[in-house]
Amino acid sequence: LHNMEKEWLGTPIEELNRMPQCAPPLSHLKAMHNHTVAVRTDRLREGEVPISYPSKFKDAWDDVSVKMPCSEKNLFPMDTDDGGGVQSRWELIHTALHGGFKSSLDVRDAILRYNTAHAKKWDFTALNLLCTECLEHSELQLLFEVILPAMVDLALNAPVLCTMPIPLLKSRIHHSVTLSQEQIACLLANAFFCTFPRRNSRKSEYCNYPEINFYRLFEGSSPRKIEKLRTLLCYFRKVTQTKPKGLVTFTRQTLNTAPNWESSQTQLKRLHITCEGTIEKNGYGMLQVDFANKFVGGGVTGHGLVQEEIRFLINAELIVSRLFTEALDYNECLIVTGTEQYSKYSGYAESYKWKANHKDEIARDDWQRRCTEIVAIDALKYRHFLEQFFPEKMTRELNKAYCGFFRNNINSKHLSAIATGNWGCGAFGGDTRLKALIQLMAAAEAGRDMAYFTFGDAPLMRDVHKMHTVLTERQVTNGRLYKLLNQYSNVMCKNCRTTRPDVSLYDFIYEKVSSPTPAAAPDSAKDVG
Ligand code: AR6
Repeated sequence: LHNMEKEWLGTPIEELNRMPQCAPPLSHLKAMHNHTVAVRTDRLREGEVPISYPSKFKDAWDDVSVKMPCSEKNLFPMDTDDGGGVQSRWELIHTALHGGFKSSLDVRDAILRYNTAHAKKWDFTALNLLCTECLEHSELQLLFEVILPAMVDLALNAPVLCTMPIPLLKSRIHHSVTLSQEQIACLLANAFFCTFPRRNSRKSEYCNYPEINFYRLFEGSSPRKIEKLRTLLCYFRKVTQTKPKGLVTFTRQTLNTAPNWESSQTQLKRLHITCEGTIEKNGYGMLQVDFANKFVGGGVTGHGLVQEEIRFLINAELIVSRLFTEALDYNECLIVTGTEQYSKYSGYAESYKWKANHKDEIARDDWQRRCTEIVAIDALKYRHFLEQFFPEKMTRELNKAYCGFFRNNINSKHLSAIATGNWGCGAFGGDTRLKALIQLMAAAEAGRDMAYFTFGDAPLMRDVHKMHTVLTERQVTNGRLYKLLNQYSNVMCKNCRTTRPDVSLYDFIYEKVSSPTPAAAPDSAKDVG
């Protein structure tokens, strides 16, 4: 086939590393000062539901832990004639949810009983529409007779299941949390019923955290909301029908020292690039990039429905990260290992549709986690094309990607390839050709190959492949490339009076690397821009 007709270019995807085949041996799962494990590690068995640890609910109502709805400190002002007093909000939640639901209005009324301050503002149109116009009779029956009652039981089981205080993954602190999928389901059922205290207003102590209670999901009449609800109800149906038996680890990773890009002698690693397929489907077993918002999950509980939100919906366990992950800083990422895919979907954004139940058959590792590793890295949002070529912006993106790709103390041969694509180039308005190069540089620095999914863009596939080929043939180092990027910025972008530079980045690079002097020079002089 001629290049114009090919669906992929570069290294065949079969040659790239995937988990679990490439995995290094995993140490025994153990709680440590920087790793909170909420289950009995000594009783972890394949095919068995993990046992919560400790055995009794440990209440923590402080600023380093998630404030749980079942905490005895979770109080509700009482509306009595003597005007005073407080009552246990958890008891109120119990009473409200145990009443049983016959219609979506009952669900609304229950939720508002312990969220009275929001009774006037919260809107349940989408939930009503789903129940009155979208679901068939048998589906409605299943929802009200089976799924919702099971979700209530699951939510109210919080003090039995989620006994360990969940640490907040705070900015600049490297920490991991491992939860069972059952615990996550319980937390998400609580999110659905909007029971998490202090989480209904962005002005509160959690202003630097994503939203977790689902109230925005019920609001408005957009078909998007209906499809989101369908997807999440598929998740709840499955986890309440059969208890999931695995674990999921959430790691906040901070990059303390950035690479010295300017002097890097690293050369690009291998690239498979294709205009077919998706990160989640064709990148199984690889490190899969979530094109994230600094508030992880972005608009998943609201209106958003692009790459990150879709991933959070189909791998719903990702949503629980919003409960405890503070907004990502410029040098931070969130790595999530072990989530399961529960739904199949079609379409994208406006055309997104929940399609069907998905049976996840990805192998589990020794910690009983699915071998699905997803990393949330948030690109910068650009309004003007030229902005992204400012040296400090390019360096920020390089370091952000590197933070997501880098793994401490793991030999390159044990690292899976990176499955990525047009990171930062949709909602965030970045340039695909620049971002592809930045990700390739970061991947090389972290010692990893890459599978790049252009999402249908064949010219992009050919352009990036050609660039990768030329840079590899000419043995251009990251250091030289970094200087070329900065040179492009200074020469072509800084004084540019139009919206776009006259010479494209790739043409500029081709011209520089094909001029005989630096390319033909001996190794020592190779990185002279
Ligand atoms: N596989 C491969 N490529 C994809 C996939 C997929 N499954 N889905 C989309 N693309 P975008 P951003 C391509 O806009 O610009 C969210 O609200 C497709 O070409 O999701 O980084 C977050 O919460 C698409 O245009 O990422 C943030 O707030 C491109 O990837 C914000 O969006 C970029 O996808 C991040 O925006």
